[in-house]
Amino acid sequence: MKISDDIFQIGVNDHDIDLFEGQYKVPYGMAYNSYLIMDEKVAIMDTVDKNFTTEWLNNIQKTLNDKTPDYLIVQHMEMDHSSNIMNLLNVYPNIKVVGNIKTFSMIKQLFNIDINNKIVVNDGDTISLGKHLLQFIFAPMVHWPEVMITYDNYNQVLFSADAFGKFGALDIKQDWIDEARRYYIGIVGKYGLQVQSLLKKVSKLEINTICSLHGPILNNNLSYYISLYDKWSSYLIEEEGITIAYTSIYGNTKAAAILLEEKLKARGYKNVISFDLARDDIHEAIATSFRFSKLVLASPTYNTGLFPMMSYFIDGLVERNFQKRSIAIIENGTWAPMAARIIKDKLSKCKDLTFIEPIVTLKTAINNSSEKDIETLCDNLCDDLSY
Ligand code: FEO
Repeated sequence: MKISDDIFQIGVNDHDIDLFEGQYKVPYGMAYNSYLIMDEKVAIMDTVDKNFTTEWLNNIQKTLNDKTPDYLIVQHMEMDHSSNIMNLLNVYPNIKVVGNIKTFSMIKQLFNIDINNKIVVNDGDTISLGKHLLQFIFAPMVHWPEVMITYDNYNQVLFSADAFGKFGALDIKQDWIDEARRYYIGIVGKYGLQVQSLLKKVSKLEINTICSLHGPILNNNLSYYISLYDKWSSYLIEEEGITIAYTSIYGNTKAAAILLEEKLKARGYKNVISFDLARDDIHEAIATSFRFSKLVLASPTYNTGLFPMMSYFIDGLVERNFQKRSIAIIENGTWAPMAARIIKDKLSKCKDLTFIEPIVTLKTAINNSSEKDIETLCDNLCDDLSY
């Protein structure tokens, strides 16, 4: 696939993968992008996952015709992009590998080999291919410490490594935003500060096209994607709305969560999405919690602690710097309800959370008193809004 007269997408689609990074469900597969720039010198940008060696090498060969590549630029060493470095060097032994000091130390760790034919670059360094001048911009922790992105000033293309990627193979048509949010919050969400600093660096560049290592080529309305990244990495509310995340043992906590959802919808509150944390995609629930302004947590007490999926879910929020949101709690406990206290304790590591009263306490099942509390909670969730 052509991106410009002399920039080609040579990556692959993975429809066999079930879990990306061993944990994220990817029902629409995954794309591992790689690019080839054909100039007086030929550069390949990154390799692909280990299961696609032959297909990727064939893509390179077809695109090259009779030329040979001069450079392999390694922007990111996570194995979905680096696994074929040695396979490429075996086919094209004269290729120079371009990376930074951390890149080469990670290559040594992965392959137990020192690359001799290499160019070690610093932040801001350039390599000329002829018409194309490539500038390397370090982007530590977006998503690993060695990450660098690359700007081609000839076609004004930003090769953005993991940034601006999404889940999903490229031969499946799909809106960008939901799977890009789930990908971003899941994988890079913790590193908002570092993403902010990268956005600042690239704001000075004229960019026509963004080529990430996952997801489609972005070549129009780039301000839309960049402003979402700005919002996500600042942990700002993307949209007014309520996530209801519940776990339930015999269905009583679920009944309270669903009753609240019905009451909110009956008031005309549009954006309410409920997740059964034991059955629905927990990473979708985490991403939606970052998308919306309010989060309701409904959980039974279990072994004097929290039900396990709720515990895992909250850990997932805390790990990703969840903040600047409003929280409501529904707890259940037949003889000693503890869930609310434990939830508050776990969330005490998060900045700028506001708790919405009342905490609804069920003692086994909904009764008149707890139903009244759910009604009041509904009022208070709706209170401060223009929904
Ligand atoms: Fe797509 Fe951080 O690797």
